Amino acid sequence: MQSSERRQAIIVLDFGSQYSRLITRRVRERHVYSELVPATTTLAQLQQNTHLDIKGFILSGGPASVYDDQAPACDPAILQSGLPVLGICYGMHLLAQQLGGHVAHNLGQREYGPATIEVQAGTTLDKRTLRIFEGITLSPDQTDHLEPAPGTAPLRLPVWMSHGDSVDTLPEDFVVLASTDSTPVAAIANPQGLVGLQFHPEVTHTPQGKEIIRNFLFRICGCEPGWTANAVIEETVENIRQQAGRERVICGLSGGVDSAVAALLIHKAVGAQLTCVFVDTGCLRAGEREQVVDTFSTHLHIPLVVVDARQRFLGRLADVIDPEQKRKIIGEEFIRVFEEEALHLEQEQGPIAFLAQGTLYPDVIESTSHDTASTATRIKTHHNVGGLPADMTFKLIEPLRMLFKDEVREIGQALGLPEEWVWRHPFPGPGLAIRIIGAIDETRLATLRAADTILIEEIRRAGVYRELGQAFAVLTPIQSVGVMGDGRTYANVVAIRAVTTGDFMTADWARLSPDLLGRISNRIVNEVPGVNRVVYDITSKPPATIEWE
Ligand code: XMP
Repeated sequence: MQSSERRQAIIVLDFGSQYSRLITRRVRERHVYSELVPATTTLAQLQQNTHLDIKGFILSGGPASVYDDQAPACDPAILQSGLPVLGICYGMHLLAQQLGGHVAHNLGQREYGPATIEVQAGTTLDKRTLRIFEGITLSPDQTDHLEPAPGTAPLRLPVWMSHGDSVDTLPEDFVVLASTDSTPVAAIANPQGLVGLQFHPEVTHTPQGKEIIRNFLFRICGCEPGWTANAVIEETVENIRQQAGRERVICGLSGGVDSAVAALLIHKAVGAQLTCVFVDTGCLRAGEREQVVDTFSTHLHIPLVVVDARQRFLGRLADVIDPEQKRKIIGEEFIRVFEEEALHLEQEQGPIAFLAQGTLYPDVIESTSHDTASTATRIKTHHNVGGLPADMTFKLIEPLRMLFKDEVREIGQALGLPEEWVWRHPFPGPGLAIRIIGAIDETRLATLRAADTILIEEIRRAGVYRELGQAFAVLTPIQSVGVMGDGRTYANVVAIRAVTTGDFMTADWARLSPDLLGRISNRIVNEVPGVNRVVYDITSKPPATIEWE
């Protein structure tokens, strides 16, 4: 195992592609550690991190052309390091140009979408140059759509293209490995392990892309698949022990998977030196507080303090209608309650040196991303209630800083976090306050909680919970006329929102089955007092947001 000494790593240089993070995740899916760094990072800077055993580089695509005035370049020392480099799209153009080849500038012309490459397999090419396509065959379900490739005929692979420029003169020692009808140079390589791909192996529209990346990692870079959940746990626990020593740590639990996994890791490292704090804001879903107590206190035996601050929050929220005002009040109040509790704990049990945060790798990338990084990485995410009180004197412990969400889930599972937590949909810090449109009171909270519980129950029962990014009920300020039994009603309208999404920056409304929607609607209207109508939100993001407020 590589983790405790020097960890094998693939460095992804970010030239601003919307897929840069995805490339990094694709590498990690193969259990090889990967870091995404700004395009301008030099080899010397990377080598300062003595914990990393760099096995290769990937140059991402990007929106620039090598002919742009400010076109980002790659540190020449990286290309001359002797380590393998995979250049994707713009990364391929840079690789070729910086090593003495030439890129044709296709002004105004772009090739975008599906294409088929023809790989020069079975030719007299040096076998080392062909390693990137070694062992790749079409899956049976693809052969129906493509011409079969019997015998020594070239392998034809469906790929995803998105480019304007293309390489037209190769650097010395390079050969063309693949071409398409419109792009004669679709893949290039030299025997030393420098590879350029005009298409995007990281996207699912390139069905053999994962195998191509696997070839780069294992056949070309010689990596070992040592970045596993257990290796990460072992390493993180060791780091926390070193950082915390014998000092106490406080961790705010939000009810979500990130803070839960952060707490589990810290507890594994320093045991009872950790105290978790859970604040009941009064805007939680049904049973949420009980579930936190049950999981953390009863099952996992982690010291937990529950602060019942319902009256404080609801008092300050009374008659507040503006969504941003709601967020601000809850954010401020949360910090105040948390600070008071921390002080209380210090008075009772002695000083606390550390505050644990569930910061994830995408937040870290975002805060360090270079100007060329994609706009997607710079779109600010919401202020997360439960976040860092800016003027607190604690030092920070951030055990998830280098992890993506799916890795956090895997680690949570390995640490024994119940399945239901591991796969939980995110829940916003301001909670139900931003799902009750207009003023909030106990009655409206109770109505929404009851409707939301039914929705989630039915979604789980239908087996679609994990396919959805988020699903929840919204209590609208609309009263509508209905008829129940023999009487006329005039009651609340509940809206249902269910979305599919990868990163929550964009989302599509989920095509829930009409039967499921019917069951949800029936149950809500029959079981929740004060609701006589249910509507389904069929708006994607953009233009709508996921939450209603
Ligand atoms: P929107 O509504 O902006 O939501 O499409 C994107 C994601 O962010 C969550 N969200 C929040 N999370 N505090 C949070 O902690 C907030 O104020 C907040 N507003 C939205 C939302 O639930 C979704 O997952």
